[in-house]
Amino acid sequence: MTVPAIVLQASGPNALGIIRSLARDRVPVIACDHDPGALGLISRHAAPHVLPDPLNDPEGFVGGLHALGEGIGRDGVLFATHDEALSAIGPREAGLDELFRRPWSPWERLEPLLDKSHQHAVARQIGFPVPRTIEPADEADARAAADELRFPVILKPREAPEFRRRFRAQVIEANGPEELMRGWEQAAPYDPQISEVIPGGDDALWTLGSYRAADGTPLGSFTGHKLRQWPPRFGTARAAESFWDPDLARRGHELLDALQWHGISQVEVKRDPRDGRDYLIEVNPRSWLWISLATACGVNLPAICHRDAQGAPPAPVAGHPGRRRWVLGLKHLGASVREIRSGSWSAGELASTLRPPLTDGVFDARDPRPALAQVRRLLGRRGARG
Ligand SMILES: Nc1ncnc2c1ncn2[C@@H]1O[C@H](COP(=O)(O)OP(=O)(O)O)[C@@H](O)[C@H]1O
Ligand SMILES: [Mg+2]
Repeated sequence: MTVPAIVLQASGPNALGIIRSLARDRVPVIACDHDPGALGLISRHAAPHVLPDPLNDPEGFVGGLHALGEGIGRDGVLFATHDEALSAIGPREAGLDELFRRPWSPWERLEPLLDKSHQHAVARQIGFPVPRTIEPADEADARAAADELRFPVILKPREAPEFRRRFRAQVIEANGPEELMRGWEQAAPYDPQISEVIPGGDDALWTLGSYRAADGTPLGSFTGHKLRQWPPRFGTARAAESFWDPDLARRGHELLDALQWHGISQVEVKRDPRDGRDYLIEVNPRSWLWISLATACGVNLPAICHRDAQGAPPAPVAGHPGRRRWVLGLKHLGASVREIRSGSWSAGELASTLRPPLTDGVFDARDPRPALAQVRRLLGRRGARG
């Protein structure tokens, strides 16, 4: 009998990707979020379940999961979509492991991985390229970074979620020493790293997405790259494309080996046009925003993970033919119109991101409610404004 999947923080396209991928394999899904209107909770492929927010109330979140697990009575398989759930579960995983299957590495491996400086240190040990980075202990160190690094640089928090909520941005960019010190004043409480910016467009951001079994064997591997982010340069994907790059897959798995990571993950790198090498941006020890593109390419990571967690691992899949596109259509079109008007993006570039075969991160004719809700929210916001 197929055990259910429990998709955590089922707020957006990342969770929808998992839910719809599992639906293809006829896996029953429970989608959890603190917001009853979250996109995953209104998918026709999932039973909705409201849980407290793992960032604001980690104890309540894990308590709610306990109650859910006891109610289900069969070891459901957990799927994480964001770091907050991972961090809430981590220190409390022993109790949850009695109720659920948790197909990722234990807290002793995860906790260091959630710190970007650990990711960098491990990458350096195995010769995986890393952007030149300084980790200032105080203001004097930050000032010294101005002499040691080449501008532009970015300040990146080592613990992202709270920084992101406060600044509504993932990084602070500085084009010279003065900007750097202004950025430092704002970002210092978040223990930021200061890194050189790897040049190149958003399309130079490549990803290895994979699922690795508990012994580290890759059972599913996908590669692709972003086409456009929002906001551009330091944002999240709004258009992406698959393309199998076996060399990136090999090197990405070497890094995951060194991090001793198993489960679903995304290794993101930026391909530097100056030397053609892939520099580590980050490892996300969980699913990522455009995981549905992997499924569209025949590498159904959630289904592979679920089967393995049930003790029936499928034969490994590595690679996929051709190129497919993925977009967050509404957001991508809205942003593109503004960018085309301002001259920073062209209609031709937009058109090339929309070439079929094309998957939308939200819209799916077989599961239309999330897209309808998104449109309603957008119209509601317009109405509220005007
Ligand atoms: N050193 C860098 N050079 C160029 N772009 C970068 C660099 N570091 C991060 N970025 C950009 O900023 C985005 C956010 O950085 P990331 O490390 O992924 O932080 P987060 O934890 O917030 O996702 C990345 O997707 C990438 O586009
Ligand atoms: Mg990121």
